[in-house]
Amino acid sequence: MYNDKVMENFAHPQNVGEIADPSGVGIVGNASCGDIMKMYLKIENDVITDAKFQTFGCAAAIASSSMATQMVIGKTVEEALKLTNSQVVEALEGLPPQKIHCSVLAEDAIKAAIEDYRSKEQK
Ligand code: FES
Repeated sequence: MYNDKVMENFAHPQNVGEIADPSGVGIVGNASCGDIMKMYLKIENDVITDAKFQTFGCAAAIASSSMATQMVIGKTVEEALKLTNSQVVEALEGLPPQKIHCSVLAEDAIKAAIEDYRSKEQK
C-alpha cells in the first residue's frame, strides 16, 4: 500500500530522537487512531538548525515525521510555518487516501513546536 519513498522513510527514518535543549517542543495526537507525535526544534537566529521527532504511530506517520523534519531544517520559522501536509505528502510521492491524516500530524507538530518556541520567547 506504500510507495518506495514512504517505505524508505519508514524503514530508515531521519532525525529520530530528541534534542537535549530544544527551543520548542510540540506534541500532537490523533484522537481517532490514538497515534502521537512529538517534535523538537532547535532554533537559532530565527532559523531551524535541527529538528527531531518521536512518533508513536503508523508507518505513514513515521515517514511523514521523517520527511517533515528534513524539510524544515534550514528554514526560517516563518517558512516552516508555511509547510503544509500536502507538501509533505508530495515529497513522499503520495500516501494512500486513508493515510493522509497521518501527514497532518507532522504539519501540526511543527506548528505546535513553533508556538511553544514563540511563547517562551515572549517571557
Ligand atoms: Fe494514526 Fe496514521 S493511523 S497517524
